[in-house]
Amino acid sequence: MKKYLITGCAGFIGSNFVYYMLNKHEDIQLVNLDKLTYAGNLENLKGAEGDARHIFVQGDICDRELVQGLFAEYDFDCVINFAAESHVDRSITNPEIFVATNVMGTVNLLQCAKDAWLQNGQWAPGKKYLQVSTDEVYGSLGAEGYFTEATPLCPHSPYSSSKASADFFVMAYHDTYGLPVNITRCSNNYGPYQFPEKLIPLMINNAKQHKSLPVYGDGMNVRDWLYVEDHCKAIDMVAEAGRDGEVYNVGGHNERPNIFIVETILAQLHERLADEAIGENLIRHVADRLGHDRRYGIDPAKIRRELGWYPETSFEVGIVKTIDWYLAHEDWMENVTSGNYQKYYDEMYKNK
Ligand code: NAD
Ligand code: DAU
Repeated sequence: MKKYLITGCAGFIGSNFVYYMLNKHEDIQLVNLDKLTYAGNLENLKGAEGDARHIFVQGDICDRELVQGLFAEYDFDCVINFAAESHVDRSITNPEIFVATNVMGTVNLLQCAKDAWLQNGQWAPGKKYLQVSTDEVYGSLGAEGYFTEATPLCPHSPYSSSKASADFFVMAYHDTYGLPVNITRCSNNYGPYQFPEKLIPLMINNAKQHKSLPVYGDGMNVRDWLYVEDHCKAIDMVAEAGRDGEVYNVGGHNERPNIFIVETILAQLHERLADEAIGENLIRHVADRLGHDRRYGIDPAKIRRELGWYPETSFEVGIVKTIDWYLAHEDWMENVTSGNYQKYYDEMYKNK
């Protein structure tokens, strides 16, 4: 039985990954370490309740004793680090926590993996550390070209700088000590359980309530959207068969300007809810994000060529599935937007 330490899997991508893995693999053990920050939510994991293959542990990836204890108890074959502070806007107002979790937390996991897997100068066989990273570490593109794995790292925001730092530490543990590693760098994900600070769920939630839709700048920044399940499939494949020390870009050539995404959501909700008040009059162009990267575009040729990965869900299908999910889970949205969310929203958008 393969034993995984998966971190940050009460969040958006991680909870989708838990379901993906439980459906795909009979004989696995997932130990899910998550601090349950504002972005982590046990409700996201309800569908795994009672499944003995999934064990949830509340805790911080920065906690050396806790992580060491988990390694001693479970003798993991694979660590997959999803845990992170993930929102660019929050990193602009409060960068320090991004260093603590994304950089220091990653280094703590790397050190614990090394301590557990390197015994008497010998690496235990069949082990792997996989870092879930992002295309944002490459910086911003002009109108042409794509990010490949050879593109130099050139992060701009505090978030992407912290993720790039973590990537450098992962490679440092590989190059210096021989820790078996992979890094995946994926484009923008969308789908169920995404916290409504991110573009798609935020716009769905606002439009349903006839609130204005804050589009940063001219709305022509381009993101490369991937349905979350396709990202989960890529991570599983890299964990299984990625070549040691390699980076794999993950993306489905689905580039769209932000304004197109917002208009698509409006058109879908207008039709599905038969609500005349949901229309483009809700769109407000607001002050731009500081240092806003203009365009991301992933070249996924390497993961396709080496591992046979390809995206299964087109944007047209994925966005409808996503909107359906949010319409069917109003309670979920209400729960995650009660409490501190309104305060966050007011603070973040008051000067925009
Ligand atoms: P998220 O914000 O939805 O979830 C993050 C999870 O990490 C939460 O459950 C939170 O409680 C947990 N966490 C935060 N700090 C922690 C700590 N110190 N110790 C333990 N747990 C902690 O994020 P997401 O969108 O699911 O992203 C997951 C990972 O994928 C991140 O590493 C992110 O950088 C990367 N990524 C995200 C995207 C995207 O589009 N969302 C794309 C590419 C890569
Ligand atoms: O590219 C991968 C990255 O995608 C991940 O590493 C990050 O964790 C994830 O948050 C995401 O980062 P973005 O900054 O691209 O995602 P966000 O949903 O915040 O914004 C998407 C685009 O929409 C971006 O150009 C900013 C714009 N935007 C966002 C919000 C929240 C708006 O115009 N208005 C908004 O209110």
